[in-house]
Amino acid sequence: MKEKEMVLTRGAERKAYVKQMFNGIAHRYDFLNHFLSGGVDIYWRKKAIDKLNVQTDDMVLDLACGTGDFALETAKAKGCRVVGTDIAQRMLVFGKQKLQKKKQGHKISYINGDGEFLPFKTGRFNGVTVAFGIRNMGDIHSALSEMKRILTKNGQAIILEFSLPVNPLFKSLYLFYFNHILPKIGRAVSSDSQAYSYLPASVEKFPAVSEFKGWMHDAGFSKIKHWALLNGVAVIYRGINEEEL
Ligand SMILES: C[S@@+](CC[C@H](N)C(=O)[O-])C[C@H]1O[C@@H](n2cnc3c(N)ncnc32)[C@H](O)[C@@H]1O
Repeated sequence: MKEKEMVLTRGAERKAYVKQMFNGIAHRYDFLNHFLSGGVDIYWRKKAIDKLNVQTDDMVLDLACGTGDFALETAKAKGCRVVGTDIAQRMLVFGKQKLQKKKQGHKISYINGDGEFLPFKTGRFNGVTVAFGIRNMGDIHSALSEMKRILTKNGQAIILEFSLPVNPLFKSLYLFYFNHILPKIGRAVSSDSQAYSYLPASVEKFPAVSEFKGWMHDAGFSKIKHWALLNGVAVIYRGINEEEL
């Protein structure tokens, strides 16, 4: 199935496609991430984790953790324990290799799992994070509900996700890079013919900020806030679970 058709699909078919795609590009994922973003993704992760209010003895879940950069940033910045979970086993293999070289590696553990059916008890985590992962879920509403379910009362969710720039001129320049240059580089380096075309297509399909905040509200989050990065190329969302368990 072509990537344009795939982004219109949701559910099990989309999930299987995404899982296979990330398993396929896992060996090149970190390099391409930093190269295609000019390293700005590192700064965005730091900014997003700045918004997470947790203590050193807290436990954070990093959903769709991939090779673990967001989990590592949380462990480093907050000193807490982090469990990372991802549906693509090969992304975790590379994530585990990185842990051995990092000072905060012992604070992180990885579990292969699906964000729509998290294998954790209700109220298990003080925080949940997801960077560039929520867009890829087969069913985003189910994943948001699961994120809320596993949080303690007053636990926070931090979501970092791509969006589209607000300024029209910047938006057209950005879309040119995103739709025409990025897929060519991604294809050459990762040897995957579709993955880096799927990326811009899936970002264009993702809801606008106000709509996504509505989805977070529907999942039960409150005090929802957002911060736009680089004229809206990416957005940090924060929501709180204020419900009694
Ligand atoms: C763009 S990567 C982001 C990885 C990492 N969070 C980062 O910031 O580099 C998206 C990740 O979402 C994972 N993913 C997609 N659908 C998932 C699901 N249903 N459950 C868990 N992980 C999923 C993919 O396997 C992939 O590793």
